Amino acid sequence: MEEKVLDVKNLSIDFHTSRGCVKAVDRVSFDVKRGEVFALVGESGCGKSTTAMGIMQLIRSPGIISGGEVVFGGRDLLKLSREEMTGVRGRDIGMIFQNPLDSLNPVYTIGAQMTEGLLVEKMDKKQAWQVARDMLRDVKISDVEQRMKSFPHEISGGMRQRVMIGMMLCRNPKLLIADEPTTALDVTIQAGIIELMNELRRKFNSAVLIITHDFGIVADIADRVGVMYAGNLIETADVMTIFDRPRHPYTRLLMKALPTITKDEGRLETIKGTVPNLAEERPGCNFADRCPYAMQKCREQKPEWKECEPGHFCACFLEEGGTARE
Ligand SMILES: Nc1ncnc2c1ncn2[C@@H]1O[C@H](COP(=O)(O)OP(=O)(O)O)[C@@H](O)[C@H]1O
Ligand code: SF4
Ligand SMILES: [Mg+2]
Repeated sequence: MEEKVLDVKNLSIDFHTSRGCVKAVDRVSFDVKRGEVFALVGESGCGKSTTAMGIMQLIRSPGIISGGEVVFGGRDLLKLSREEMTGVRGRDIGMIFQNPLDSLNPVYTIGAQMTEGLLVEKMDKKQAWQVARDMLRDVKISDVEQRMKSFPHEISGGMRQRVMIGMMLCRNPKLLIADEPTTALDVTIQAGIIELMNELRRKFNSAVLIITHDFGIVADIADRVGVMYAGNLIETADVMTIFDRPRHPYTRLLMKALPTITKDEGRLETIKGTVPNLAEERPGCNFADRCPYAMQKCREQKPEWKECEPGHFCACFLEEGGTARE
């Protein structure tokens, strides 16, 4: 069996706010295997970033991880001490955010920041510089010598994201988490970053968890997909299956919201309504208010997570009656 690098089991994360307890992540389970790209997809506010922050144990007050396990390398990360977790974050799991300026230090050169982690690993300065330079070439940065001496604000957004990816890969992490890594970039630069990530995962064979609201990116890079809605994972399958026969009504609607490249109008069909207030307890399916197929029982009970065909899971009452209708 393929090695599970990350195994998230029933992860729950709550935010205790003045409006009540927001269940931002509610019993979410999925795994990411070695050499695999798993995409978490869903509209804004569905709990994707909170899931990633939970895996990294970066949830801060008023948020708490209220349940579940995050098994990584055979250990439950939720049970590690703060020091142990800092080690895991620096060495074993790399994270790339939407805006690399949030993670790059403005007062140090690219070279200094890229070699910092390597020097900690007891590499000598010359060797670390060489590794960093090679990595910048791997992430397709031209004029490497000059770039090593540049400060983050002196390079473009696309280049900064490449530097971030290179910096993470220098440490050869077992898992790379990329949260909307291309959202802040223009479309052609986005395509270049996705192509780069594809190339690098083949070369380094790391496990990648990519978070996006864009099914176009899912099609370009993912092997498997998990769709999130209002704090719940509602469907997972391999990428071909998700595009070929999506089961959950939300997944279907989200895919229709993709711009159609073949048609001139290329307009987005948006999903009516908004994500429900997560501070309110709902007895039924979280999607019931927006779902074109909602039945009485959808408002009364939570649909169970079921395997509708091998490797394809979905939480929807329509599954009980066979296939979901279009
Ligand atoms: N610091 C916070 N305080 C209160 N609620 C929060 C906080 N951070 C996130 N949330 C809640 O978690 C939900 C999920 O947010 P997030 O994980 O950022 O969604 P996504 O990444 O899918 O856009 C939000 O809708 C919000 O209600
Ligand atoms: S359980 Fe009911 S409301 Fe929820 S997605 Fe399925 S049909 Fe729609
Ligand atoms: Mg987010």
